[in-house]
Amino acid sequence: MDLEVKGLARFELLESIANGASGQIFEARDRDASSTPCAVKVIDPKLATGARFETILNAEAPQAVAFRHENAARTLFAGKSGDFTIIATELLRGHSLDEWIQRSAAMARPLPWELVTYIGLQVVRAVRQGHHTP
Ligand SMILES: Nc1ncnc2c1ncn2[C@@H]1O[C@H](COP(=O)(O)OP(=O)(O)O)[C@@H](O)[C@H]1O
Ligand SMILES: [Mg+2]
Repeated sequence: MDLEVKGLARFELLESIANGASGQIFEARDRDASSTPCAVKVIDPKLATGARFETILNAEAPQAVAFRHENAARTLFAGKSGDFTIIATELLRGHSLDEWIQRSAAMARPLPWELVTYIGLQVVRAVRQGHHTP
């Protein structure tokens, strides 16, 4: 997907970072927060359609914005923006876990179990809090 997205009020989209399974991700600036860098996922319009999608979005967007944990990227906004449905989050820099795994596989050197345990624990802590967020 290669979207031409114009006119997002709060977020200024910069370059495209990636194409995910559910949409295109852009680096962006949050105009409501002194142009702080962020990431904006523009949901594929083919997926962002229908009554069921609307129901889930309306129910879960406020929960996503309310959820805060130091091990999870903050959700700044989730919902409609003009013709598009977007999810804006804190911008993460660095390498994804997927990249680490692929790199270690290419070198035939598994990630150290201590590191895997550490990362797993940090993820579980964030997920646990997510389950307890009303
Ligand atoms: N908050 C973010 N900061 C930086 N890069 C991001 C962010 N969110 C997503 N990305 C990039 O976009 C890719 C796809 O994101 P993902 O959330 O998996 O999208 P999808 O759910 O559509 O598959 C990630 O692997 C990462 O490279
Ligand atoms: Mg993905």
